[in-house]
Amino acid sequence: MRMEGKVVIVTGGASGIGLASVERCLAEGARVVIADIEASDGAERAAELDVRYPGRCRFEACDVTDTAQVDRLFEETLAAFGSVDAVFNNAGIGGIAPSDELSDEEYLKVIDINLNGVFRVARAALRVMYRQGQGSIVNCASILGVFGQSQTAAYTAAKGGVVNLTRTLAIEAAPKGVRVNAIGPGYIDTPLLAALDDELLQGLIDLHPLARLGRPEEVANAFLFLASDEASFVTGTHLMVDGGFTAGKS
Ligand SMILES: NC(=O)c1ccc[n+]([C@@H]2O[C@H](COP(=O)([O-])OP(=O)(O)OC[C@H]3O[C@@H](n4cnc5c(N)ncnc54)[C@H](O)[C@@H]3O)[C@@H](O)[C@H]2O)c1
Repeated sequence: MRMEGKVVIVTGGASGIGLASVERCLAEGARVVIADIEASDGAERAAELDVRYPGRCRFEACDVTDTAQVDRLFEETLAAFGSVDAVFNNAGIGGIAPSDELSDEEYLKVIDINLNGVFRVARAALRVMYRQGQGSIVNCASILGVFGQSQTAAYTAAKGGVVNLTRTLAIEAAPKGVRVNAIGPGYIDTPLLAALDDELLQGLIDLHPLARLGRPEEVANAFLFLASDEASFVTGTHLMVDGGFTAGKS
């Protein structure tokens, strides 16, 4: 059991990559908190998983744009499970629009969830993990944290920010025994891609040398590695899980 005795929080844990990561950590012996917005399926998923893994899965309603809710997430997790050993900063939304038509409201919403939310959750995690003297924070970035893509100004700005925020937090946290890394998924088959039509999706698949979409479980495997003690000498990295997307063109 690679996560025996560990307590893990997964933001955006009700769906897609987050849910796959929750299930992977439970299977490896962790106690896991699904943190997601009230309107998500998080409570239902946690209740189902808590039957399969008795006493080991909880839901906490948490909108990562709200500092009070983020701070409460950590308080409730400590009260229920006693520590926070790993956090997957995974909550995120998409956003496609030509930049000249992008409103302040749409732009700021993506930045507030995908970038500022990552900071709020990481800050709360650091406060707990510094007291513990150990912990692992994993931020979900993207291939679009290192590549541009038309009509994704807010998303690419946010994900680029997550990649460099990860480096700074890693340097700052290292002397306190806390590791901070990012994962860079390629296009992964989750509800986030529901807005894309088939032609656009095929064009995106063609950009991956492995010629398919990734599966949420394949990103969850990378999270599990970075969260676990197997990655004890890994910090400040952006681990690509992208079917070769960022390796270059054939
Ligand atoms: N699917 C992809 O192709 C892909 C590629 C690269 C990166 N990512 C990143 O992976 C992460 C997970 O995405 P996914 O594909 O699993 O999407 P998803 O839509 O299946 O899951 C996202 C989850 O985040 C939650 N969420 C949204 N806003 C929130 C908020 N304010 N507070 C808390 N939770 C919130 C949603 O309720 C949902 O459960 C995101 O950060 C996304 O940017 C996805």
